[in-house]
Amino acid sequence: MCGIVGYIGKRDAYPIILNGLKRLEYRGYDSAGIALYDGKNIQLCKTKGKVADLELKVTNEMSTIGNLGIGHTRWATHGEPNDVNSHPHYSNSGDLVIIHNGIIENYAALKKELINRGYTFYSDTDTEVLVNLIEDIKKNENVKLGKAVQVALNQVVGAYAIALFDKNKPDEIVVAKLGSPLAIGIGDNEFFVASDASPFIEFTNNAIYLEDEEMAIIRLGRDIEIRKVKDDSIVAPYIQELQLNLEQIEKGGYEHFMLKEIYEQPSVIKDTYRGRLLADKGIIRLGGLEDYIEKFINADRIIIVACGTSWHAGLVAEYIFEDWARIPVEVEYASEFRYRNPIITENDVVIAISQSGETADTLAAIKLAKEKGAFVYGICNVVGSTISRATHSGTYTHAGPEIGVASTKAFTTQITVLTLIALKLAKIKGTISQSNYMLHLRELDLIPSKVEAALKKNDEIEKIAKIFKDATNFLYLGRGYNFPVALEGALKLKEISYIHAEGYPAAEMKHGPIALIDEHMPIVVIAVNSNHYEKVVSNIQEIKSRKGKIIAVVTEGDTIVREMADYIMEVPNTPETLSPLVTTIPLQLLSYHIALMLDRNVDQPRNLAKAVTVE
Ligand code: AGP
Ligand code: GLU
Repeated sequence: MCGIVGYIGKRDAYPIILNGLKRLEYRGYDSAGIALYDGKNIQLCKTKGKVADLELKVTNEMSTIGNLGIGHTRWATHGEPNDVNSHPHYSNSGDLVIIHNGIIENYAALKKELINRGYTFYSDTDTEVLVNLIEDIKKNENVKLGKAVQVALNQVVGAYAIALFDKNKPDEIVVAKLGSPLAIGIGDNEFFVASDASPFIEFTNNAIYLEDEEMAIIRLGRDIEIRKVKDDSIVAPYIQELQLNLEQIEKGGYEHFMLKEIYEQPSVIKDTYRGRLLADKGIIRLGGLEDYIEKFINADRIIIVACGTSWHAGLVAEYIFEDWARIPVEVEYASEFRYRNPIITENDVVIAISQSGETADTLAAIKLAKEKGAFVYGICNVVGSTISRATHSGTYTHAGPEIGVASTKAFTTQITVLTLIALKLAKIKGTISQSNYMLHLRELDLIPSKVEAALKKNDEIEKIAKIFKDATNFLYLGRGYNFPVALEGALKLKEISYIHAEGYPAAEMKHGPIALIDEHMPIVVIAVNSNHYEKVVSNIQEIKSRKGKIIAVVTEGDTIVREMADYIMEVPNTPETLSPLVTTIPLQLLSYHIALMLDRNVDQPRNLAKAVTVE
């Protein structure tokens, strides 16, 4: 996936686009590029590398005059990340300039056809095919840019959010969307275009989110014209008022977004249950759920589909839903689910979990589940995202923008929402005792302060990170509710430090991974108070006999594991069912510090992107 941004109006486009690209860089950072137009000349600059590299290149190579501009930050899908494959791309005549987020799946056939018609291609991208297809239609059919875009997009299979302009139309930008997101900010005779609203939040609160297969012709001095790509029919614009503010998308004094987001967890967990959990009254209210309680209660199964960290939140949910609400749960990787001809019926409820609300595999899984008649419930963080709109109903997490590519606060807020749903269903079904229900409501209300306490151990965790930063492998072990936390801890370490790490259910260790253990292997064991505490203690003994180095996450006041472990990371005492919300904190901090000490790019780890909008 990539980030796209555009501007047309009375201001200088350059600073707006450059800033916008910096905010969108989390979406991809293989290369960056910009095109500016002053009504006479188009200035284009693009480079492999980050937006900062682009900024430097622009300073050295081009003037920044122009009230119209488009910019791109790329996560390569077609063609390696080099200067030539960077966006924007010109059409052969040099009249059209395009930026694109997505994949044109039938690009090879279209490219062949265009080569036969005399077109030349300089890059390996699918995007360059699209811009020349538009040019070809515009010339051959002698139509305006908007019409040419509409005709071209009808020939395209795949996904796109595009913005392009024509040298002959200095007052116009055309945009379109299918699959990838596209927001249009509306100012006072000025317009902003971006993959999300962050690039224009300080300029306007009014935005239109294009729906799939919609395009917009944005002309200065005119109202926006929105049309359906399929039949060119006019769509009335729906202007939304944005809730986002600038502070939310800035680092707020932290060195990295990831650290800021780790530290935001006490407040965003609270934001996520605020108004929904009335602990003293014993009430849970979830707007999106109220009308569909029966669907959940009567469901044969709940199937959870998600990817990555969101999938780990789904695994935690499997434990809490089955434990409290006694509804069978299956947790599926969306990418597997969508292709394995799964058995889904109208009696199934599918829960899709996604921070970004854009993950292509999760979206495809939702579409499949809907086709088969299942009721689909979404748990998303990004308001108005594709997945939140594709589901029948859902609950938003209130984590605020998560910019660090490694997901942290999204995970804990997803678990918060899933806990609320499970408790509510259990209460209605009568599968949880009143005292246990009330206990958990009160305990959930205490979680923000417990997370706060867990964060206070940061300095100790930093010291442990220093000791193990040069390890080449890590094992993470946990049981029950904390098995998914072990997986999540390992994923965090892998993705930002590039150290190989594996998460396992602690008892599975003896079925294979134990062979890896020697005096060089650090093993992070989640050994907090739980029903399995003694069993985990036995697992720790097994590791010790093989001289493995034990870093244990323990409950404050623990004495047994403290004696056995080489290092401990303490968290406050929490009921086992809610413990993932606190045990995950030291693991996030541990990976953060290790990555930092290894001089990794914590917020933008290599090869990754924040939302994976491709298969
Ligand atoms: C988490 O740290 C990862 N960057 C990744 O696994 C992520 O959770 C996954 O791509 C799913 O994203 P989503 O929640 O936006 O759907
Ligand atoms: N397919 C385009 C490229 O490779 C855009 C990539 C994307 O947006 O995911 O450059």
